[in-house]
Amino acid sequence: MMDSVDFLLRDWMDLDDIEEIGRLCRAAGNFRAEEVNVAQELGLEWLAQKEKSGYHFLLAEHSKRVCGFICYGPVPCTRWSWDVYWIVVDPAWQGRGVGRALIQEAEARILKMGGARIYIETSSQDNYQGSRAFYSHLGFNRQTSIPDFYGPGDGKVIYVKIDVTSGPGDLDEQKPNVKVKEMTDV
Ligand SMILES: CC(C)(COP(=O)(O)OP(=O)(O)OC[C@H]1O[C@@H](n2cnc3c(N)ncnc32)[C@H](O)[C@@H]1OP(=O)(O)O)[C@@H](O)C(=O)NCCC(=O)NCCS
Repeated sequence: MMDSVDFLLRDWMDLDDIEEIGRLCRAAGNFRAEEVNVAQELGLEWLAQKEKSGYHFLLAEHSKRVCGFICYGPVPCTRWSWDVYWIVVDPAWQGRGVGRALIQEAEARILKMGGARIYIETSSQDNYQGSRAFYSHLGFNRQTSIPDFYGPGDGKVIYVKIDVTSGPGDLDEQKPNVKVKEMTDV
């Protein structure tokens, strides 16, 4: 990772950012058009309802240009489980700490909001190998996989990071391992 990074994280968006989300997803090269549409629809949901949408966004920005984003939210009907729905970094910015900053800031915010289980689902296919390695590297544990979930030969792999320093305190069998880092900008 670079010694000094020069991007900002923000937790708000405007309409122009919906196009930026689409641009980043298309540039990533591993999402189908319908998946890109879904990412943008979640952004539109957030614009319409903010946190009542059930989605939270963080955008990484450099020189007023979006270079990465993460979308996450609480899993309905659970006491403390949250999903990371999307994380994408502009290829020109990959490998420079943007993804780590996005995940760590999301983790800190989830913990503050009482979350204690953070789940990420991804594909088992080869073009997601880098993403799976990234999640493992950042302390997410591969919990399970479901063969052929997305399609023939395309399984779902579920990662989880667990922390019990916040959230309901009656399940003491789990050990905390989510690092909280305060970061309004980096
Ligand atoms: C996965 C992704 C978000 C990672 O973002 P990034 O900004 O490149 O990651 P970072 O530079 O912050 O890397 C953080 C750490 O993970 C490690 N890492 C990142 N990619 C890795 C890989 N492919 N293999 C192993 N380790 C990796 C880095 O070495 C770094 O380690 P360090 O902080 O200890 O030095 C980015 O590659 C991406 O957008 N991919 C395409 C979209 C995608 O597939 N998203 C996930 C959908 S499920």
